[in-house]
Amino acid sequence: MSTAVLDHLQLADAPLLPVVGQELAAPLIQGGHVRYANLDYAASAPAIEEVASHLNEVLPYYASVHRGAGFASQVSTSVYENARKIVANFVGARDDDTVIFTRNTTDSLNLLAGCVESLLKQRGYAEGRSNVHGEVLYLDIEHHANLLPWQALPHRSVVAASSIASTLARVETQLRAGNVLLLAVTGASNVTGEVLPVAELAALAHRYGARIVVDAAQLAPHRRINLFDTGIDYVAFSGHKLYAPFGAGVLVGRSDWLDAGHPHLAGGGAVKDVRLESIIWAQGPARHEGGTPNVLGAATLAKAATVLSALDADDWHNHEQSLRAHLVAGLNEVDGVTVHSLFEDADTYPECGSIGVVNFSVTGYDAGLVAAYLSAEHGVGVRDGKFCAHPLLNRLGLPAGSLRASFGVGSQLEDARRLIAGIQALLRDGLGWDYVVDAGRWVPVNDNRSYPQWAPNTPGTAGAAPCSTD
Ligand code: ALA
Repeated sequence: MSTAVLDHLQLADAPLLPVVGQELAAPLIQGGHVRYANLDYAASAPAIEEVASHLNEVLPYYASVHRGAGFASQVSTSVYENARKIVANFVGARDDDTVIFTRNTTDSLNLLAGCVESLLKQRGYAEGRSNVHGEVLYLDIEHHANLLPWQALPHRSVVAASSIASTLARVETQLRAGNVLLLAVTGASNVTGEVLPVAELAALAHRYGARIVVDAAQLAPHRRINLFDTGIDYVAFSGHKLYAPFGAGVLVGRSDWLDAGHPHLAGGGAVKDVRLESIIWAQGPARHEGGTPNVLGAATLAKAATVLSALDADDWHNHEQSLRAHLVAGLNEVDGVTVHSLFEDADTYPECGSIGVVNFSVTGYDAGLVAAYLSAEHGVGVRDGKFCAHPLLNRLGLPAGSLRASFGVGSQLEDARRLIAGIQALLRDGLGWDYVVDAGRWVPVNDNRSYPQWAPNTPGTAGAAPCSTD
């Protein structure tokens, strides 16, 4: 981003929206506390306060959805079904699209993969019917959620090029070669934050008879999405990144494949009729939502969608781009820091740019050590590792991982400044404490920082976090 653009952005010196935990105090290893600078929104974003308040509003009415004649049950059912409509509006869904609540983006994409598998069986793909398209095409920059489900099906991958324009050309070459049923792409990289031109990709896919699914886990919390306008066939995202961390995700898209697919969660609610030896499955969202639905997850996800939809687009954009520009400029000024990106034309390609994610490395320091240091000595939370995108990190020459700072509506300039100051201090003064690797993760030795009284503080559990180096 040029200095001229930077000058036009207002300083994001306050959060755009209040979020829960804004004033959380983080203990420092050398003693004392500071306000926690949460720069890990891309992993899980804090709840918007209005979303958390809505949870408390709904909670007294919490009861079984679709399963009770009682008043609370009827209110819960109405809240749940209304959430579906709100989410449909949020993504500009077509009238006949289906909105299915899931656990998260991973669950949504696995659901769609199951439907694709059913479709291929129904169309006799394995028997080699020549007129049936059968492969899923994806980029090598995908998060594992948009990669592993497709690896279990006939598939092809494309290595993204150093520009968006050339990447599109590579995708088109593969589509033109034929046999692609579905193009699976991320809306924005969870590693670098760069945005993909999803409308253009949708048009490309359709030109060659394929459909497109967009993994919008990172895009939806930052940009508006419109299925009707862009032609995107399916979109998946998670509440926990959309400021609604209450366990719901969503898949929205064309009904025919979803109604033809084997039910994602076979169980109560997913059926019309059951005999001991036969089943008639439901159609529509119920087909894939077996078991008691997560009404609070759906209600809060819908509330977050409502709150984000009401944001002034310019304010939202300026807040995020100001933070990003300052963070990138500040990190670039530090000798020994490398900021990573994928595409040389990300800022100039129409409808692209980057969301609130900055990926970087510090020369001479393991990424996990820098993350542990920022937390222990500066109260700054970032993520390190391979970000569940191993093929990309390996290709970028970062097999040991890198660091990622990510932010959103609850972030402020001070968060970015604290991160930059922490890195500057590291390169100027070195570490102020000793660190060791424990259970595969860097931790301060003799860590005496206490958790809240009610929270378990079992030694070694932080190091054993399953996704710590993912
Ligand atoms: N997928 C999440 C991330 O990128 C967890 O951090």
